[in-house]
Amino acid sequence: MKLLATNLVKISKILSDLNYHDGDSIGKKLGVTRSAVWKNIQKLEEYGIKISSIKGKGYQLEEQLLLLDAEEIIKEVANPKIKIEVFEEINSTNTYLKTIEDFELRHIAIAEIQNIGRGRMGRNWHSPFGQNLYLSYAYPFKKDVSELGGLSIIVGMAALAAIKEIGIEASIGLKWPNDGVFENHKLFGILVELQSEANSSSRAIIGIGINVNMLIDSPIITQKWTSLQKITDKYIDRNKLCIALIHNLNALLEIFAKHGLKDFLNQWHKIDALYGKEITINNAKNTGIAKGINEQGQLLLELKTGEVIACSSGETSI
Ligand code: BTN
Repeated sequence: MKLLATNLVKISKILSDLNYHDGDSIGKKLGVTRSAVWKNIQKLEEYGIKISSIKGKGYQLEEQLLLLDAEEIIKEVANPKIKIEVFEEINSTNTYLKTIEDFELRHIAIAEIQNIGRGRMGRNWHSPFGQNLYLSYAYPFKKDVSELGGLSIIVGMAALAAIKEIGIEASIGLKWPNDGVFENHKLFGILVELQSEANSSSRAIIGIGINVNMLIDSPIITQKWTSLQKITDKYIDRNKLCIALIHNLNALLEIFAKHGLKDFLNQWHKIDALYGKEITINNAKNTGIAKGINEQGQLLLELKTGEVIACSSGETSI
């Protein structure tokens, strides 16, 4: 576990014009030696970043890369009550926040790479360096965990709003309970882990993984997937997305903490990727037509008999 070093971020910014920059001039801009620059370049290469280096010319990124900038994120979020940490490398941002003992603290952990990124149902979450967004938010609630049923729905809505806010108009939907999908390919996933406390309080560790600039497949990924760069054909600035995501999470989580899911139900049908489709939940135990969700965030399923049942959790397939 290592916090992201400012110099690494600065070097990525200098190189982001995709021109050659020599070690001396980079070093001067940063106030460090040429060999310190070289060490950082080596580090980027160890993370799989392709950099060409030519004697006399310097270094050049072979592919676009802009690292997360903790200073910029903290400045733009502008909320001293939220602790924000950006890690160069971590096992999993969710696992890390679960160990933090201060239950009252709103705490965000973001990472450039997760070595043991976790998905739902015990799956792995592919988390290559510098490409996607891996963000977890420890959020305290003055509510019992039993009242947090619809939380992952809200988080999915915040992710959609953030993507829209940075100018991406593609019709991305939510596949209950919390997958972001584009043309039936997974774009983001949410892993909410709840911890209960005395006095009917609780803390949610909200983990969000958004495929942002990832283009290359991996055997770790078992579902059909896409990324924002695949959808738009453009390199996406993850800092902007990250800031928009935190703003939207703050806004929606505050409403959810006060009023629950009811203020959001009328928006659900607009983004519901399952509505009206015949789906199967929990390995074919239930098959029927998806009819939206209720105030507890449960999926409503109309069975062949005409009866509508509410399903609390599970995997859906169309
Ligand atoms: C899913 O299976 O759809 C949920 C994926 C959640 C991935 C995110 S990335 C940030 C956070 N840290 C993790 O280890 N997992 C979540």
